Amino acid sequence: MKVQIMTDTKFGNGKLLAEALKNEFSNEIDVKIDDVKDVSPKSIAEDVPNVIILGGAIRMFRAGPKSKKWLTEINKILEKSGKKIQYGTGFLTHALPTDRVQGYAKKYLNKMEKASMIEKTYSELLTARVKTQEGPIFPEEMEKARGYIKDFINWIGM
Ligand SMILES: Cc1cc2nc3c(=O)[nH]c(=O)nc-3n(C[C@H](O)[C@H](O)[C@H](O)COP(=O)(O)O)c2cc1C
Repeated sequence: MKVQIMTDTKFGNGKLLAEALKNEFSNEIDVKIDDVKDVSPKSIAEDVPNVIILGGAIRMFRAGPKSKKWLTEINKILEKSGKKIQYGTGFLTHALPTDRVQGYAKKYLNKMEKASMIEKTYSELLTARVKTQEGPIFPEEMEKARGYIKDFINWIGM
């Protein structure tokens, strides 16, 4: 079972969140963390993971544009190869209050649900609020993230 976590981080908060998520998987599971700015969709599509966790950040009132573009690209490549990713979920880091980012989360999740080469997308997206633009992520948000990923791991039956 291979899990690929993607981030699009500027100040490292997305990376820290990804590491916290990684820690919740059993040691036997191969969990990799990469950034959409560094790793091409092609290289991930060659060695298709079973699970994708696509992270991004809300910046300038846009939710993870680079991550969404990356998803569009990997989906195209996978369509050609006919290989599918079994499970998907994602996260968004943000500075706005949580209740103000639900619309962004819904749209981002919708984009994942529409990706034809992800067989099943989890019904909920993780959001994690930072204290200031540079971080850190609020401690209670990190706690929420750990609970979220435990539920996700249960859902995929791992
Ligand atoms: C240029 C810029 C614009 C931002 N705009 C928003 C915004 O519109 N809404 C929001 O909630 N957070 C906004 N933020 C805060 C980012 O969400 C935050 O910096 C990011 O989640 C931190 O994660 P990172 O360290 O992984 O990049 C903005 C940050 C930057 C740098």
